[in-house]
Amino acid sequence: MELSVLGLACSPRRHGNTTILLHHAMEQVRALGHRGETVYVTELDFSQCQGCNACSVKGICKFKDDIQVLSERLVAADRIILAAPIFFMGVNAQTKAMVDRMQPFWAKKYLLKQPIIEDPSRLPRRGLFFSAAGTNREEVFDCAKKTVQTFFNMFDIKYAGDCLYKGVDDAGEIRRHATAFAEVKQAVTELLT
Ligand SMILES: Cc1cc2nc3c(=O)[nH]c(=O)nc-3n(C[C@H](O)[C@H](O)[C@H](O)COP(=O)(O)O)c2cc1C
Repeated sequence: MELSVLGLACSPRRHGNTTILLHHAMEQVRALGHRGETVYVTELDFSQCQGCNACSVKGICKFKDDIQVLSERLVAADRIILAAPIFFMGVNAQTKAMVDRMQPFWAKKYLLKQPIIEDPSRLPRRGLFFSAAGTNREEVFDCAKKTVQTFFNMFDIKYAGDCLYKGVDDAGEIRRHATAFAEVKQAVTELLT
């Protein structure tokens, strides 16, 4: 069965490390006969969550912008790959701003007790997290992983694994990594089987 895979390129660097990993992943998606679509999150035009809680009433945000289209794609996809760099020990601000705007789904699920995915035969959906960090600090991915896990969980996406690379700083440096591309390929293959 052909699966649809949504890739979220969250780095502001179009040719940065995490986007390179995502492109490699999407090549493998297509090589395996599935459908892949990449959304460049930093090119979307959207407001930041104001915490007004208007979405608590009906699960609908007061802002009408690119997040609406992205939300539809997040619901429609069978698999998700989120690729985001580490900025100040967490996901970069653009990624976090996007995740915060998904609060209407949190309200739907936990306050209004409505399903995010109407058809249970589509579950479990699964997702991967790719990241890169300039330093070699042991805990450098901890906060980001928690954010992505919470985001996935809200959308009924099982956190299927991650490909996380430390000590990778300059744009494109990941190309010189000894194992990253093979690991990404393997993770994608497992994601789709
Ligand atoms: C604003 C900013 C903050 C950063 N903060 C961290 C950090 O806290 N820890 C770290 O290891 N690297 C940090 N970095 C380095 C990036 O994580 C690193 O360059 C990474 O490879 C970027 O991935 P990208 O090319 O996909 O954007 C930071 C970079 C920027 C621009």
